[in-house]
Amino acid sequence: MSGSGVDRKMKVAVCGGGNAAHVLVPALKEAGASWVGVFTPFQEEASRISEGVASGGIVARYPDREARGVPDVVTSAADGLIPQADIVILAVPAFAHLGMLNAIGPHLKEGAWVGAMPSRGGFEFLGTHPDIARKSALLFGFQTLPWACRIVAYGRSVRVLGVKRTVRVGSLPSAAAAEVAERLGRLIGIRMRPVASMLAITLGNVGQIVHPGIMYGLFRDREDVAFAEEEIPLFYQGVTEAVAGVLDCISDEIGLVAGALSLKAGWTGDDCRVGSLREWLIESYGDAIADPRDTRSCLATNSAYAGLRIPIVKSGALHRPDFRSRYLTEDVPYGLVVTKGIADICGVATPTIDEVLATCSRWMGAEYYVDSRPVGRDIKNSRHPVNFGIATAEQLVRAGS
Ligand code: NAI
Repeated sequence: MSGSGVDRKMKVAVCGGGNAAHVLVPALKEAGASWVGVFTPFQEEASRISEGVASGGIVARYPDREARGVPDVVTSAADGLIPQADIVILAVPAFAHLGMLNAIGPHLKEGAWVGAMPSRGGFEFLGTHPDIARKSALLFGFQTLPWACRIVAYGRSVRVLGVKRTVRVGSLPSAAAAEVAERLGRLIGIRMRPVASMLAITLGNVGQIVHPGIMYGLFRDREDVAFAEEEIPLFYQGVTEAVAGVLDCISDEIGLVAGALSLKAGWTGDDCRVGSLREWLIESYGDAIADPRDTRSCLATNSAYAGLRIPIVKSGALHRPDFRSRYLTEDVPYGLVVTKGIADICGVATPTIDEVLATCSRWMGAEYYVDSRPVGRDIKNSRHPVNFGIATAEQLVRAGS
């Protein structure tokens, strides 16, 4: 894989058919990818997208422009599509990563690049997946999804609420990160910054801070609250000073974990640094934030977040917070639980993370930690390092590089 001319001949498989996939297809086509296939294991989803696409392709409506792209194939059959792909991008929530890898793994091309967008926590631990190893595949992970986006009509249009200015990317082997950032940045049309270890992507996963953190901050001790339709709170714009305080504490604790890990790993310089949530918001959103003064204002005045409400479930005529939403089912087991495992290995105390983790786990009806130990019945349904036989800093650092 070398040279921009060759990149244009790259065949890309997008795995997933949701919001992210709908933006990715036109982005890839606009940036010049010659062939883009969409794989979803769900026949019904594949049919819905195919029917929509037949009317002229997917239009991504950005705040200031439009991009259009027609996928070359949409299928629920991995064996017809995956063997052709040089690059495979998983655009699905983290709880679907392993299932996706199992579905596509046997069909991967030798040496293919396989990555997640975003990878959330512990994606690097899947580097030991037998098909990844057998096919000498390169693994990559994005710290975040480059866009805030919502499908308007399946296979036809998607609304892009905001675009991040820079997205960090890590890879296994880690030495390839600069090449991955350069290639994928060009292929998707997004500026990317390489990091020296995938562990920096895991700790830098901001979903684990904002999603469980805001839910905890808004609904701690009032989980029975219910709202009329017009009263459903705004998720980001509803963040108060107190809720932002929780987010800052989580962010600070992650910073301590990252600092301890850097010492153990011997990392110096900036390429494994995990900045604060506020720094990340400013780096990612720039001018979309009207008032960058503090974490609360960065969230509340960010145009990419405007109008987004809390996840809800209907309860009679009212609406209650949805404690089984992806904001928890993805960002707790594939976010905070992973970070907590790394904190334990590094010997760093994380009192705020512990409290948020315990409360959110209870809301979800899940059990990860019991008496400060990762022995809960659901720990196996997470990417805690213990599931991958990782118990020491040396094993951890090796798994991330
Ligand atoms: P979505 O809900 O629109 O789409 C999810 C896709 O995953 C669907 O195609 C669905 O069929 C598939 N899927 C779900 N469970 C599956 C399973 N068990 N096996 C295989 N496929 C499965 O999700 P969206 O919005 O595209 O999000 C993708 C990722 O991007 C998630 O990690 C999300 O947290 C993240 N993200 C999304 C943002 C957004 O604005 N949409 C913003 C920031 C991050």
